[in-house]
Amino acid sequence: MMNAFIACLAACLLHEVCSASTPVSWCYHRPSCSDAVWSIIAEKDCDGTQQSPIDIVTADVQANTNLTAFTFTGYNDRATLTEIENTGRTIKVTFGDQKMYVEGGDLPGLFNSTQFHLHWGNGSATPGSEHAVNGKRYPMELHIMNEAGNGSDPVLSVLGIFIEASNDTGKPESWKTLTSYLAQIASAGDKTHVSDKLTMDDLLPGVDRTKYYRYLGSLTTPSCDEGVIWTIFKDSVKVSQDLIDLFSTTVYINQTTNSPLMTNTFRAVQPIYGRIVTSQVAGPKTTGLIKPTSGTKTTGFVGNPTTGLITPRSVIKTSLTKLTSTATNPSLALNFPLLSAVLLYCILPS
Ligand SMILES: *[C@@H]1O[C@H](CO)[C@@H](O)[C@H](O)[C@H]1NC(C)=O
Ligand SMILES: *[C@@H]1O[C@H](CO)[C@@H](O)[C@H](O)[C@H]1NC(C)=O
Ligand SMILES: *[C@@H]1O[C@H](CO)[C@@H](O)[C@H](O)[C@H]1NC(C)=O
Ligand SMILES: *[C@@H]1O[C@H](CO)[C@@H](O)[C@H](O)[C@H]1NC(C)=O
Ligand SMILES: *[C@@H]1O[C@H](CO)[C@@H](O)[C@H](O)[C@H]1NC(C)=O
Ligand SMILES: *[C@@H]1O[C@H](CO)[C@@H](O)[C@H](O)[C@H]1NC(C)=O
Ligand SMILES: [Zn+2]
Repeated sequence: MMNAFIACLAACLLHEVCSASTPVSWCYHRPSCSDAVWSIIAEKDCDGTQQSPIDIVTADVQANTNLTAFTFTGYNDRATLTEIENTGRTIKVTFGDQKMYVEGGDLPGLFNSTQFHLHWGNGSATPGSEHAVNGKRYPMELHIMNEAGNGSDPVLSVLGIFIEASNDTGKPESWKTLTSYLAQIASAGDKTHVSDKLTMDDLLPGVDRTKYYRYLGSLTTPSCDEGVIWTIFKDSVKVSQDLIDLFSTTVYINQTTNSPLMTNTFRAVQPIYGRIVTSQVAGPKTTGLIKPTSGTKTTGFVGNPTTGLITPRSVIKTSLTKLTSTATNPSLALNFPLLSAVLLYCILPS
């Protein structure tokens, strides 16, 4: 309730539409709507304690023999990738209905694969992946989205694959084909049929899909829903830098004529809050003292090094502090009756 109240108050202060049915508009590129404020402007889970992405610290990875091989269905089918779209926040490729599935790998049952999309930085020389391994990020990260169970409240599972830059040009052929569509979908909302009969397998050469990390996290965009089963493969796909560069130089976050190029489409790594990352084999043993957390963007969260537990209150307190200082601004104080009315409107319907 308090979280909802804070989110609502913040949304109102930021002049966003405040209604449960209209999600607050989030972005990657402006301080007023970027990931730094999602926990304030966005509804639901963005300030939770099981958020993604995370920095995977291999020394803390525990062995889990349940992490067997996956079974992929339709990943080699030439008619499964149907449409490629510029959503204004990512490039998304939709899979045909009931064409692709994944099971095994300790997933609770059969999952529908619904789409994949990408996260990237500003060219192949800059980090653009969401997850990190020992603080290292890659130029891009590909997310295959999967769901299981009943339509209204499905269990979500994401397969994450890192994209690394190679010094070739136009390689591999599958990624040359994929990126050849970008010029046709330069503006947000543009989409086109994928006619070149690509398969998902074609796009993941060189990835041993029996070696991966597993942890429980969230969607990496608002509303940051938790309970997402994450799989991060250890191997990366090598894509030539010229093709990686096309993402940050070809597609725009709105109409081509009046908006920035789509760059830096990633969320910063989130605190681990005591969660355990597992893999087929444990990470290399460390002797001696726990090392300090590596140089990620998640500063300000100091956990107990033994349990990793951090009280979520620190997050709420930060939000409150921000709001209190905003509320003491005299011009906002003048608007207080109006704000109160809007707040009541926000709180009452739920
Ligand atoms: C492996 O699966 C078994 C049976 O479901 C479960 O009891 C056990 O806790 C699992 N092990 C790990 C490391 O998750
Ligand atoms: C991306 O890189 C280009 C040049 O490499 C630069 O001109 C541009 O300002 C950068 N964009 C962002 C958002 O950093
Ligand atoms: C897979 O998706 C279809 C709709 O595309 C749905 O009808 C079906 O129940 C889903 N199956 C699973 C296992 O989630
Ligand atoms: C899905 O719904 C059916 C019927 O409503 C129910 O029997 C089944 O247990 C549900 N499955 C899951 C995974 O929640
Ligand atoms: C690409 O070439 C540059 C300079 O020739 C080199 O520094 C870099 O390590 C190479 N990158 C890869 C991925 O081979
Ligand atoms: C995108 O451009 C349209 C038309 O110029 C404009 O009305 C709209 O506000 C823009 N949207 C964003 C999110 O900037
Ligand atoms: Zn994603």
